[in-house]
Amino acid sequence: MNNKKYTVTAALPYANGPLHLGHVAGVYLPADIFVRFLRMKGEDVAFVCASDEHGAAITLRAKKEGTSPQAIVDKYHTINKKAFEDFQIGFDIYSRTSNAIHHQTASDYFKKLNDKGSFIKKTTEQYYDPEFNQFLADRYITGTCPKCQNEGAYGDQCEKCGSALSPTELINPVSTLSGKTPVLKETSHWFLPMDQHETWLREWIQNGTLNGEQQHDPKTWRNQVVGQCMSWIDGGLQPRAMTRDLDWGVKVPVEGADGKVLYVWLDAPIGYISATKEWAETAGKNWEDYWTGDAELIHFIGKDNIVFHAIIFPILLKEHGDYVLPTNVPAYEFLNLEGDKFSTSRNWAVWLHEFIANHPDKIDELKYVLTSIAPESKDAEFTWKEFKDRVNNELADILGNFMNRAVVLTHKYYDGIVPPLSEYGKKEYAGYIEAIAEIPGNIERNIRAYKLRQAQADVMDLARLGNKFFAETEPWKLFKTEPEKVKDILNITLQIAANISILLRPFLPKKAEKIGQILNFNTNNALTWDQAGGIALLQSGHQINKSEILVQKIDDSLVEDEVARLEASKSARAEQNGPPQKDTVNFDDFVKMDIRVGEILEAEKVPKADKLLKLTVDTGIDKRTVVSGIAEHYQPEDVIGKKVSILMNLAPRKIRGVESHGMILMAEDGEGKLCFVSPEKPFNAGGEIR
Ligand code: 2FM
Ligand code: ZN
Repeated sequence: MNNKKYTVTAALPYANGPLHLGHVAGVYLPADIFVRFLRMKGEDVAFVCASDEHGAAITLRAKKEGTSPQAIVDKYHTINKKAFEDFQIGFDIYSRTSNAIHHQTASDYFKKLNDKGSFIKKTTEQYYDPEFNQFLADRYITGTCPKCQNEGAYGDQCEKCGSALSPTELINPVSTLSGKTPVLKETSHWFLPMDQHETWLREWIQNGTLNGEQQHDPKTWRNQVVGQCMSWIDGGLQPRAMTRDLDWGVKVPVEGADGKVLYVWLDAPIGYISATKEWAETAGKNWEDYWTGDAELIHFIGKDNIVFHAIIFPILLKEHGDYVLPTNVPAYEFLNLEGDKFSTSRNWAVWLHEFIANHPDKIDELKYVLTSIAPESKDAEFTWKEFKDRVNNELADILGNFMNRAVVLTHKYYDGIVPPLSEYGKKEYAGYIEAIAEIPGNIERNIRAYKLRQAQADVMDLARLGNKFFAETEPWKLFKTEPEKVKDILNITLQIAANISILLRPFLPKKAEKIGQILNFNTNNALTWDQAGGIALLQSGHQINKSEILVQKIDDSLVEDEVARLEASKSARAEQNGPPQKDTVNFDDFVKMDIRVGEILEAEKVPKADKLLKLTVDTGIDKRTVVSGIAEHYQPEDVIGKKVSILMNLAPRKIRGVESHGMILMAEDGEGKLCFVSPEKPFNAGGEIR
């Protein structure tokens, strides 16, 4: 008997907001499909996930909502857990990192590594916000990414280019608490000397070998994952602090570490282990079987999580010594929505729990569309129009139509009893029979290569094959003249339908079950994967049930309503969330600012800076250079001759090597669009603005 175990993990979502379709398409649904497939193959799988309840993502959200971190995690853990259940993501456990078992597991893990000398304790200068008496790590500090110039990079990571950062690497760092430039202050932390792990990591990621043994097949790893990891390693890994000065998280279990907690990216992946333990206790399993020996560990994640799962956690696992390293880290690119990025702060999202509440009968329809467009190798986009089109033109017209024809004709000609397949029929239609036999293997290969889009398309190809078979053989024309042939034809179409009821199950479990019910076969999804491919699934004489609508078509009105809902919530949010009024300033402060009308004389792009234009501005008293972050909104040629407002006496600053003397004032709307603040009437350069 095969004793091999699989542990499949899906990135622990932060309990700081609801899940949207981007999360689902790029982590949870593919992981679920993969696990359902493994289970149908008879594999022993632990499918674990949990809410990630620590870190700055949570404490900052609590601050923003004016509530406690505990209230935040309680709220979103409940919403997200229910959404996963309703969407039938079949985790064995959906735990939370606030559970005692997790605190204990993470704490023990840290102690073990600390005792072994895996960390280096160092006192360094870290950014500190004196106004809030707080050290600023991770999301408490933002600035410009030194690698890609993204201005919104966090202290631990740039979400645009995926680089792992330290706060001290940020250009123009700003505290997210006070909005001010922080100061440096000494503090002690435990660092993971990642630089000491480069050699084996390189070997393991590129060749799949660890200590001379083949541990995984590097050809099955996605190019983006290997590429990102190698570029970090080639760029030189830096020691990384594994503890933080915060009061929210797992306490550092060492004397003299008061006021310090584990770094959330140390504690969260250990959450996979804690969740496995917690599940095993109730399921009567031995959790260690799923983390040791020849167990396969597979992490489904979004691309912004690559460094943590393919470099940092593997170092921690190897240092621990008892556990396996991941055999694959299938990382997904991002999903966009109606031409824009998903954004919680701008409320530009389709929330999973809202979709379920509004369309409880369209769960599998959504699964189908999200897998069809899954961002496996590049960013992808969800639109409601495409949702409708794919459901109507593919699911309903190809799959639904095929099923309906097969079942209705069987009732019409044979009272719903499966007719026999003759030896003649087997020869006559041998090409079709071979094609049916090949499909399960193709799907399996694609699933094992994490090509789930293609795998689902292969299942649909089986329905296409059925439609082609009908179109070529036209049994409705033969029934009077060649009734024996019609028996063969309908037998084969029903075998195709039965195969679909098996092969569709990892992707669309509800539809697969419904097909099973109609065929009075494979009830409760009882059959295994390896039973698919044959043409003797339904015996002749077997009674099938009446046809039912498998896929309800979607109306244009659904698309219109949903797009309108999206637009409306965005504008409501923009109104609600317009920036709050800043602190009062007195008149003396105000008049210190010298603001005038300027005319832009020249404009050019600043090399290697997507957002910047270098402008020459006539201010009435001089012609000066101003660097302005408007390149995403204006082309250089569009701004020449524009009258704008310029803050004259801002201290000169060097921006990307260009000295800027002043600042162009811009109006910004709720969606981040920028426009100039210009005089209402024709006006000469130099006029004062007061
Ligand atoms: O990026 C995120 O949403 C993180 N909460 C993922 C954590 S995955 C793991 F390591 F736990
Ligand atoms: Zn970057």
